[in-house]
Amino acid sequence: MSEVVVLVEGLEKEFSRGHPVVSGLSFSLRRGEALGLLGPNGAGKTTVVHLLLGLTTPTAGKVEIFGLPMPRMRVPILERANFASAYALLPSNLTVRQNLMVFARIYGVAQPREKIAGLLSDLEIGRLGDRVAGELSAGEAARVSLCKALLNDPELLLLDEPTAGLDPDIADKVRRLLRRLQVERGIAMLYTSHNMRDVEEVCDRVLFLRRGRLLAEGSPAEVLRRFRCEDLETLFIQLAREEEEILPEEPGGNHSGSG
Ligand SMILES: Nc1ncnc2c1ncn2[C@@H]1O[C@H](COP(=O)(O)OP(=O)(O)O)[C@@H](O)[C@H]1O
Ligand SMILES: [Mg+2]
Repeated sequence: MSEVVVLVEGLEKEFSRGHPVVSGLSFSLRRGEALGLLGPNGAGKTTVVHLLLGLTTPTAGKVEIFGLPMPRMRVPILERANFASAYALLPSNLTVRQNLMVFARIYGVAQPREKIAGLLSDLEIGRLGDRVAGELSAGEAARVSLCKALLNDPELLLLDEPTAGLDPDIADKVRRLLRRLQVERGIAMLYTSHNMRDVEEVCDRVLFLRRGRLLAEGSPAEVLRRFRCEDLETLFIQLAREEEEILPEEPGGNHSGSG
């Protein structure tokens, strides 16, 4: 088994007392693995991503990345990780290239111009280099955000709904590119999405969250078998609507996800 990149144990987050948003969450993510974090709106997916980035502190529990504790070792961790979201906007009055140059300097990229040109070309947005960031469409901005996230050759990539707002053609290209980069470079990837197509194509393993708690974990095929479901879309709807917790049969399995 390859090395553990992210280790989460007993993670809890409350923004207000008595209302946990993340509850007793444990999982690990290994080098070269793509892990899908699924769940309905408000399940706590973005909060988990923010906890992993050290943008918010846990109420209890432990987050270790590259064997280092988060948030205490946030700076060395973030030198080796990156983040993209369809909703994280870049400074709108700079051009795409100026924006990327700023980030390249922050990350200390050796040959920033070449690096940026290569990534823009990989993402098929070379033509956007001189456009002002604030004038991009949602799909263009999402791809620029991915460019930014790849500038420091991250070993860990946290993607919060990276294909939200993309048309099916571009979403497909982004998925393929992510999968290729992830496999070629052995990146550990955490991927939140509502798009079950994304998940089926990109993710080796999925975690299904509802109200901050882990309901299901495994490869897409394992999870479908365990819940006797035909496809992830049906399972998503079933798990999201189920009021009582349905605990599936788990021969020899455990729910903590850390084992
Ligand atoms: N900064 C915050 N302060 C208070 N509540 C928050 C904050 N961030 C998220 N929440 C709440 O936490 C819950 C989970 O939100 P979120 O992690 O964004 O879910 P998801 O990404 O799965 O849609 C929601 O009920 C949301 O209102
Ligand atoms: Mg979210």
